[in-house]
Amino acid sequence: MATMKSLIGLINKIQRACTVLGDHGGEGMSLWEALPTVAVVGGQSSGKSSVLESVVGRDFLPRGSGIVTRRPLVLQLHKTEDGTTEYAEFLHAPRKKFTDFAAVRKEIEDETDRMTGKSKAISNIPIQLSIYSPNVVNLTLIDLPGLTKVAVEGQPESIVADIENMVRSYVEKPNCIILAISPANQDIATSDAIKLAKEVDPTGERTFGVATKLDIMDKGTDCLDVLEGRAYRLQHPWVGIVNRSQADINKRVDMIAARRKEREYFETSPEYGHLASRMGSEYLAKLLSQHLETVIRQKIPSIVALINKSIDEINAELDRIGRPIAVDSGAQLYTILELCRAFDRVFKEHLD
Ligand code: GDP
Ligand code: NA
Ligand code: MG
Repeated sequence: MATMKSLIGLINKIQRACTVLGDHGGEGMSLWEALPTVAVVGGQSSGKSSVLESVVGRDFLPRGSGIVTRRPLVLQLHKTEDGTTEYAEFLHAPRKKFTDFAAVRKEIEDETDRMTGKSKAISNIPIQLSIYSPNVVNLTLIDLPGLTKVAVEGQPESIVADIENMVRSYVEKPNCIILAISPANQDIATSDAIKLAKEVDPTGERTFGVATKLDIMDKGTDCLDVLEGRAYRLQHPWVGIVNRSQADINKRVDMIAARRKEREYFETSPEYGHLASRMGSEYLAKLLSQHLETVIRQKIPSIVALINKSIDEINAELDRIGRPIAVDSGAQLYTILELCRAFDRVFKEHLD
């Protein structure tokens, strides 16, 4: 629906503007907190980056063993309607359009290092990336550092707790939809993602269980108990995923081919064939988009109330610093104000 799309688009813009002002959804009540987002959580190498890339349909995330993701990555997906336009844009380099996704990966790595140095330290300050593509659904995803059990060479002992606290600070927010990535070739009972999700969302209403690595489970075992909802039942159905293996990545199997292979895997699978229409990365992306719309519909009254409050606050703030103002934060406040007004307008049209 066009109106819902424009509302989601405006929400994305408001979140981006808030991030410029230093509002990362950290402390206190903020617009950021009122708006739904999807966070990807799981243990190291559970397949988080792979799932994100499949949902986006492009290769662009840094990979490797160890803690590769050391800053949250806030990824806004925007569907382009002309069927061809595709590019990425970073908030920290707003005038540069990236059409080469290998360069996007490099920029994420460089921008991570800029903040943390070449050390293996982590930072709470997110990198904000927008991807415009005909192959995506309108969605905001947050990639978070992988949960880990031990510090590696060169990292402080506190890193295990630091990462968990950072991840928790995102997923404990009631507006956060949790994508709990659990590798099926390990015991899902010990999944770090499910453990944390259960803690912050005990009823499971905002948790989506995602079982990765179905293709490399031990011979003679399967994941049906989980996928059919008998074990670790959540309010939403589990989605099984087959990402590219390391060998596929080394052979440079592209995303589109990977999606096709995944679809074929489920359609021809003796175990999962009967579930094929509800499995895979593309289905997961659709499921998330639908859920996001439902949540936004429910939240519209409180978002509008908060936006009206923000308009008042921003006006007060602008009066305090005196207008017109040339400094960046002033301009940014104007931007947010404009966006809030636009949101309010679109919402009212929607009601009429
Ligand atoms: P992250 O650390 O959680 O972001 O995990 P990655 O997405 O980087 O994946 C870690 C490794 O597992 C990579 O070598 C992937 O190719 C591999 N991998 C991820 N998902 C799957 C899967 O579904 N099947 C197979 N065979 N390998 C996978
Ligand atoms: Na990794
Ligand atoms: Mg990763």
